[in-house]
Amino acid sequence: MNVLEQLGKNLLVPVIKLESADSATPLAETLLASGLPVAEITFRTAAAGAAIRSISRDVSDVLLGAGTVLTVDQVKEAMDAGAMFIVTPGFNPAVVDYCVEQRIPITPGINNPTGVEAALARGLSVVKFFPAEASGGVKMLKAMSAPYADVRYVPTGGVAAANLAEYLSVPTVLAVGGSWMVPADKIKAGDFEAVGALVREAVSLARSLRP
Ligand code: 3PG
Repeated sequence: MNVLEQLGKNLLVPVIKLESADSATPLAETLLASGLPVAEITFRTAAAGAAIRSISRDVSDVLLGAGTVLTVDQVKEAMDAGAMFIVTPGFNPAVVDYCVEQRIPITPGINNPTGVEAALARGLSVVKFFPAEASGGVKMLKAMSAPYADVRYVPTGGVAAANLAEYLSVPTVLAVGGSWMVPADKIKAGDFEAVGALVREAVSLARSLRP
C-alpha cells in the first residue's frame, strides 16, 4: 500500500505543532497507542526537522509526514530526517515539481478548481483542501468534486469532531486533517493522556462514519 492509500485507510491526519523536539517521540507513541499511526509534523516551528528525525529513529510503523512545507530546502530537510510525505498549505510550483521529480509523495494545498488542475497537470490526484471551512467547506468540496472524478481531497483547516461527519460523508474525501486531536498546549504541557483521549475519540468517530 502506498503512502496516500495508507492515509486513506487511517482517515485522519493529525496536524502537529511542536515547540520542542523532545515531545516528538512521546507524541508519536501516543498516536500509535491510540490507534492513529499517522503524524504530520509542521514546519511552523524550528523544532520540525529534529522532531521528524526523532520519530523516524524511535517509533516504527508511523506514517510520518512534514506539513506547512514552504520551500524545497524544507522538503530536503524533512526527507533527510525521515519524512515519508510532504504537505503544503498552498500550491507552490517549485516545491510540487521537486517532489514529483523526486517521486516524493505530496499533497499540495489547493482551494479552487485552478489548484486542482495544477495538481492534475503534474499527475497528482490527491490534494489538501485548505483552508477547508474558510474556503466554503463541504459545499465547495462537493461542487469541486463534480468535474474531477478521480481527484481525492484531504480537507484541513477548521475541521474538528463537530463537523468531521460532514466531511467524511463526501465520497471524494480521502482523509481529513486537523489539529483538534493534538492540541499544541496539551503537547507542550506533556499531557499525553489528554492527547490520547482526543485521538481515540477522533478515531472511533471516524471509524463509525467510514467502517
Ligand atoms: C493546517 O496547517 O493544516 C491547519 O492549520 C490545521 O488546521 P486546524 O488547526 O484548523 O485543524
